[in-house]
Amino acid sequence: MAKFPMAKKGYPFILTTCLLFCMVFSSNAQNVKKTYLIQMDHSAMPKTFSNHLDWYSSKVNLELSKSLQPDMNNEERIIYTYHNVFHGVAAKLSKEEAEKLEAEEGVVNIFPDTKYQLHTTRSPTFLGLEPEHSSYNIWSEKLADYDVIVGVLDTGIWPESESFNDTGMRPVPSHWKGACEIGRGFRKDHCNKKIVGARVFYHGYEASLGKINEQKEYKSPRDQDGHGTHTAATVAGSPVHGANLLGYASGTARGMAPGARIAAYKVCWIGGCFSSDILSAVDQAVADGVNVLSISLGGGIASYYRDSLAVAAFGAMEKGVFVSCSAGNSGPDPASLANVSPWITTVGASTMDRDFPAYAKLGNGKNVTGVSLYKGKSMLSISKQYPLVYLGSNSSSNDARSLCLEGTLDPQVVSGKIVICDRGLSPRVQKGHVVKSAGGVGMILTNTAVNGEELVADCHLLPAVTIGEKEGKKLKNYVLTSKKATATLAFLGTRLGIRPSPVVAAFSSRGPNFLTLEILKPDLVAPGVNILAAWSELVAPSALVTDQRRVRFNILSGTSMSCPHVSGIAALLKARHPEWTPAAIKSALMTTAYVHDNTKNPLRDASSDEPSSPYDHGAGHINPVSALDPGLVYEIEPQDYFEFLCTQHLTQNQLRGFAQYSNRSCTHTLASPGDLNYPAISLVFQEKTSISVLTVHRTVTNVGPPISKYHVIVSPFKGVFVKVEPEILSFTREHKKLSYNVTFTTKSRQTTPEFGSLVWKDGLHRVRSPIVITWLSPI
Ligand SMILES: *[C@@H]1O[C@H](CO)[C@@H](O)[C@H](O)[C@H]1NC(C)=O
Ligand SMILES: *[C@@H]1O[C@H](CO)[C@@H](O)[C@H](O)[C@H]1NC(C)=O
Ligand SMILES: *[C@@H]1O[C@H](CO)[C@@H](O)[C@H](O)[C@H]1NC(C)=O
Ligand SMILES: *[C@@H]1O[C@H](CO)[C@@H](O)[C@H](O)[C@H]1NC(C)=O
Ligand SMILES: *[C@@H]1O[C@H](CO)[C@@H](O)[C@H](O)[C@H]1NC(C)=O
Repeated sequence: MAKFPMAKKGYPFILTTCLLFCMVFSSNAQNVKKTYLIQMDHSAMPKTFSNHLDWYSSKVNLELSKSLQPDMNNEERIIYTYHNVFHGVAAKLSKEEAEKLEAEEGVVNIFPDTKYQLHTTRSPTFLGLEPEHSSYNIWSEKLADYDVIVGVLDTGIWPESESFNDTGMRPVPSHWKGACEIGRGFRKDHCNKKIVGARVFYHGYEASLGKINEQKEYKSPRDQDGHGTHTAATVAGSPVHGANLLGYASGTARGMAPGARIAAYKVCWIGGCFSSDILSAVDQAVADGVNVLSISLGGGIASYYRDSLAVAAFGAMEKGVFVSCSAGNSGPDPASLANVSPWITTVGASTMDRDFPAYAKLGNGKNVTGVSLYKGKSMLSISKQYPLVYLGSNSSSNDARSLCLEGTLDPQVVSGKIVICDRGLSPRVQKGHVVKSAGGVGMILTNTAVNGEELVADCHLLPAVTIGEKEGKKLKNYVLTSKKATATLAFLGTRLGIRPSPVVAAFSSRGPNFLTLEILKPDLVAPGVNILAAWSELVAPSALVTDQRRVRFNILSGTSMSCPHVSGIAALLKARHPEWTPAAIKSALMTTAYVHDNTKNPLRDASSDEPSSPYDHGAGHINPVSALDPGLVYEIEPQDYFEFLCTQHLTQNQLRGFAQYSNRSCTHTLASPGDLNYPAISLVFQEKTSISVLTVHRTVTNVGPPISKYHVIVSPFKGVFVKVEPEILSFTREHKKLSYNVTFTTKSRQTTPEFGSLVWKDGLHRVRSPIVITWLSPI
C-alpha cells in the first residue's frame, strides 16, 4: 500500500473547525454579502435569452447594478450554476439584494447557504465505534450488482484503502459520465473500477469561510477526516480479510454491496459542509449517472421548500435516483429528526450483535461491566487494586470535574488513580486524554440518563471502560460510600452473539416527524453502533490531534454509519431489480423490516431499556435478504410526492420549487397527506371530536409470483376499530396494482399515540406497514 507523504503530521482539525466557525458568526459588518441559493423557474426564461446561465446572470446582475455599492463583478458573485436537480445559481448577495431578487419574475425561491453537520458521533457530543457485516456475506457476492453506482457525499476518500481494491471487477459501465478530479494528493490513477468518480465542491465553503488553506487541507478528493472513507467502504467496500482495529472486531470487512461502484463527492471540509456545495454535488452526481445517493449529513431545517437538500433530493428522485440520508444523532429527544422528506429514505441507528466487553473489578469484590476498545502497553494488573476517584457527587447535577473536561483535573488528586468520568459535553476519548495528562492510570466512563444503557466503545488512549447508567449508579454509590474505594480494569476482546440485539441507539434521532405527522419517520433503522470500516491514514482512530496512532480501519458510531448500510442494500436491490423506482426500493426495505430482536422480543430502545416504538425504529430493522423479494410494493410517482406537497400549505411559488422539469400542478388527488401511498400509515385525529372516522387509501403492486392471494392482518387498537376493504387481494399477473382502503373509527380517544401494524400475507411474503395513531388534544 502506498504511504502518503504527509501521513505522519497531525493536523489540528478540531481547533481549526472552531476557529473558522467562530469567524463566520463574528462578522457583522454592514452590507455583508452572504451566499444565497437562487432557484429559478426554468420554463419562464424570456425568449430574448439564448441560454439559462445568461438569464440567471442577468437577474443577479440587475440587482448588482441597482445596488448602491457595486463592489464585485458578476463573475465573482455567481459561485455555482445548477442544471439538473435544481435550476438556478448560488450567488453572493447582501440581505437587501436577496430580498429584492426574491420578488423578481422568474425567481422561485431564495434561501441562504446553510451549514450542515456530518452525522457521526465523532462530533463533539459523541466519539464511537462498530462491527462488521458477516450476516450479509452469503448472499451479497452472488448478486449482479456490478452496474450500480453509489454517489457518496462526504469528506472524500482514501484511495489506498484495500476496501477500494478493484481486482476482478468488470469495466466501468458505459452509462457512467462522472470524472476523476485530480489535485494535491489525488491522481487520475487513484480512481479505478471501484472508485469510478471523485469530485470536490468547495466554492460555497470558500465564499463563506475564505480560501481553503492548501497547506493544511487537501483541496482534492483525498479524505483527511476518515468519515468519507468509512461511509464509502460501508456502502460498497471490497472484502478485506483480517481487517480489525487494534485487534478488535477482527474479520472480513466488506461493504453492503461489494460489487457496486463508488463515486466520492467531497462536500465537507475542515470548517463544515455548506448547502451550496451539497446542492452542486447532488446536481452533478445525477448528471454523472449515479443510481443511489448516500448522504450522511444534515442541517436544522424547518420546512420542505427551504431545505435545499430536500429540494435537490426531490429532483434526484424524479430522475430515478434513490436517496438515503442519516436521521441525525439528536436522540433520544422526541421530534429530533433531520431529512424527513417522504422522497428521502431516513435511516436511524441500532446496535449489532457484537460488542467489546470490559469490566472493572472493584475493591468490594463486585464487578461493573461495560465495553472498551483499549489496546496498549499500560494495561492495569488484574491482581492489583488502584485507588478510585469520582469528582462529582451523588446528585444528578454534574460539575466540570465529574465530566473530566479539559483543565479541570488536579494531578495531586487523580495521579496514580482510576478516575470516574461522566459522559457528556466533551468527546469521550478526550476525557481519557484529560485523565491521562493529569497522571490518572485509568478511566471508567459512565453514561448518564441521556444515554441510558447504550454502550459505545472507544479507542481510548489509556485503560478505560465505558459503562451504562445503571452500572454507573452502582459504581458511584460504592465510591461515595467507601473511604478507600479501589478498582482495576480488564478487557475481554471481541464478543459475538450479544443479546438482545439489535437495540435502537440512544443517540438515533426520533420521531414524530415535526413537518408532517402523517408521514412516519425515521423510515427504518440499520447498524450504526461500533461499525468497523476503512479509515484515512492521516487521522488517528480517536481523531484526537494528540493521538499518534494510525490505522487502516476504524470503529465509529452514528446515523452516518447506518445510512450507508441502507444505501448499499438499496444498490443491491437496484442491481437485482433495475426497473424498480426509488419508491419501490424503499417500500421493499420498509415492508420487510423486522421489529423483533434476537431474543424474539420487540426491539428495545437503548436509552430507556423499554420496547422501542415506530417513532424510534420506523418500519423496523433492515432485513436485506427479505427485501430482495418483498412480494408487494407501494409505488409512489414523482407527481404523487408533488400532490403530497400540495397538502402542505405551500404557496404557488414554494410549490414551483418542486416542479422544475414537468409543469406540475396540484390536482388534489390526496385528501390528506396520510393518503400518500407510503409504506407506513400514520393517522392523526385532530382535536375536533366531530371527526371520528378516517379512511386512508393504499395501492400495492405485485412484484412477486404472478398469481398470488394476500389476506390482511391488523393489530388491535384501544382507541379505534379498524376495517380494511377488501380483506383479500388476488393478483393474476406481475405488476398488477390493487387498491385497498383502511377505515379507522374512534372508540375512545387516547392521550398517547398508539402503535400497531397492518400485514398482507400470501404464505410466502409478509408485507408489513407500521401504523401510528395520534390524537391531538387542545392545548
Ligand atoms: C488487490 O487484491 C488482489 C487480490 O486479492 C491482490 O493481489 C492485490 O495485491 C491487491 N492490491 C492492493 C493494492 O492491495
Ligand atoms: C467479574 O467478571 C469476570 C469476567 O467476566 C469473572 O471472571 C468474575 O468471576 C466476575 N466476578 C464477579 C464477582 O462477578
Ligand atoms: C447521597 O449520599 C448521601 C451520603 O451517602 C446520602 O445521605 C444521600 O441520600 C445520597 N443522595 C442520593 C440522591 O442518593
Ligand atoms: C403549465 O400548465 C398550466 C396548466 O396546465 C398552463 O396554464 C401553463 O401555461 C403551463 N406553463 C408552461 C410554461 O407550460
Ligand atoms: C375506497 O374509497 C374510495 C373513496 O374514498 C372508493 O371510491 C373506493 O371504492 C373504495 N374502495 C374500496 C375497495 O372500498
